[in-house]
Amino acid sequence: MSNASNPEIDAKIISGLNSLLADAVVFRYKLQNYHWNVRGRQFFELHAQFESLYTAWTGHIDDVAERVRAKEAAPLATLARCLEHTRIAEEEGTPHDKQMVERVVADLLTIHKSVRDVIEDGESAGDRTTVNLLDGIGDEIEKNVWMLRAWHHGS
Ligand SMILES: [Fe+2]
Repeated sequence: MSNASNPEIDAKIISGLNSLLADAVVFRYKLQNYHWNVRGRQFFELHAQFESLYTAWTGHIDDVAERVRAKEAAPLATLARCLEHTRIAEEEGTPHDKQMVERVVADLLTIHKSVRDVIEDGESAGDRTTVNLLDGIGDEIEKNVWMLRAWHHGS
């Protein structure tokens, strides 16, 4: 539930969650773009890895949007609004496989920073549900960054 005792911080959490939602929507589609368009000797590995990532982010999109709704606010509900609010750049080009992995890592780090900021606000507001949700997403991002960097280092 929303923390009525501090509406200002609660509004900040809601706006942070909506920014994360925008990032997640754009990032998810970018992952699927990479899933479709990756080429090269690592095709099968990366094709599957990008699918596993976009599947996970499909779940995160739903969880973050529903958290906004549970806090009695409106989640961003159109692609146009998500594009207005996101900090993630869409992929317009045709990067090679290592560049795709580099861009995914960079986007994950951008999103991770926002996740940390919303967690801080959630902690100061006593919003444990938001903190718990974002802790899980943050942990998963850290693991993915490690694995993608390990792959990149060895390729
Ligand atoms: Fe597919």
